[in-house]
Amino acid sequence: MEGIILEWGGMLLRWVHIITAIAWIGSSFYFMHIDAALKPLPRVRNAADGELWEVHGGGFYHVQKYLVAPEQLPKELIWHKWESYSSWITGFFLLIWVYYVSAEVYLIDPAVQKISVGLAAFIGIASLALGWLVYNALCNSPLAKNDVTLAATGFAFIMFMAWFFQQVFSARGAFIHTGALMATMMTGNVALVIIPNQSKVIDALMRGEAPDPKYGKIGKQRSTHNNYLTLPVIFLMISNHYPLSYSSPYAFIVVGLVLVSGALIRHFYNERHAGRGDHWWCWPVAMIAMLLAIYISMPQAAAGRAFLGLGDMPEVKPVAGLPKAPAEVADIVTGRCSMCHAREPVWQGIHTAPKGVLLDSPEMIERWRHEIIVHAGLTRAMPPNNLTEITGDERRILRNWGSSASGQKQSQLNP
Ligand code: HEC
Repeated sequence: MEGIILEWGGMLLRWVHIITAIAWIGSSFYFMHIDAALKPLPRVRNAADGELWEVHGGGFYHVQKYLVAPEQLPKELIWHKWESYSSWITGFFLLIWVYYVSAEVYLIDPAVQKISVGLAAFIGIASLALGWLVYNALCNSPLAKNDVTLAATGFAFIMFMAWFFQQVFSARGAFIHTGALMATMMTGNVALVIIPNQSKVIDALMRGEAPDPKYGKIGKQRSTHNNYLTLPVIFLMISNHYPLSYSSPYAFIVVGLVLVSGALIRHFYNERHAGRGDHWWCWPVAMIAMLLAIYISMPQAAAGRAFLGLGDMPEVKPVAGLPKAPAEVADIVTGRCSMCHAREPVWQGIHTAPKGVLLDSPEMIERWRHEIIVHAGLTRAMPPNNLTEITGDERRILRNWGSSASGQKQSQLNP
């Protein structure tokens, strides 16, 4: 039952998270585009500062922007903030659901640090908060006078955090926390800077005063940061499905390269939409950064090692004292799954353990208990097309390993 709840809960949370993130990124890209495409209007009192025309959905739109605000507060005002808040909230619950509830599989790698689930979750959540505080302090410091200095410092900070996460979490957990850290900066910008500043502008209007233009400037700066962070964050969020992207010892450098390439691609479009020309150089540079990232990941795959002339994969020392799967289960999984789910798979066409699911020792099999039960016991998802001809009896044994508490006890007793 637990397996079914975990699986469905994860799926539903991810569904909502992706929907809200699409809404947020969509509106954020749209407003960046509008800002870039605005045609300035002549300075006339009480009039808008820029405008643009768009055609969509069977009609024409005439958008005008007031910098900082119109003279009078409009009666009805549409806010754009819940796209951001709901993306963060659903993402946070998804992080808890996948990485803290199933921490043994996804977050804690005893070969990196043998920490408790509580400590791992504490480090994860505290880092998100700390990340926001540091980033916000950087933006409020004299460094922020120069956009390039600020960007370089922010970049170094994110790479440092990616490196730090690698020292405490599993490779996959480290990447997702780096993504979550950046996403927290983005939502923090909306919730703690942009929206409160907008409220100050509105308060000034209500008092009949002219609002301070600095609020508009700060808001624009923070939403530009968000724009440049978007593509790298999406990469980090989907990386967990692609083990090669995160499993290198230099994964924090991969984070840096992805930041560079994602930001450059945004830069190309931001400049183009603003009519400042097509900076085509962005594309080859972004591509080189991605090729470097691929190169860095290669020693993690048997095929990559062969290509680089590095020989066999180095042995990984088993960590002593971990619970093991019962012998009966381990035999089935070794016989039916390990040809693909190994560090050096022997199945033709499979070059790394699919999805990072390594099933090559009783300890690893025990760690992946829930997933094995869901994919091979409760459903027939694995092996693909039953390639290794697992029998109904064997599936029943995998299922029972899940339902009987004795399965786990036995696994801890039988070395
Ligand atoms: C012929 C190779 C092969 C065999 C044998 C095989 N798998 Fe897989 N497995 C794959 C591939 C390929 C994927 C990735 C599927 C995808 O991309 O959705 C995968 C994915 C998985 C996943 C991750 C699913 C996810 O989406 O996160 C689990 C868990 C898994 N396999 C368990 C098993 C178990 C248990 C067995 C043995 C009963 C097994 N596999 C046998 C090839 C294999």
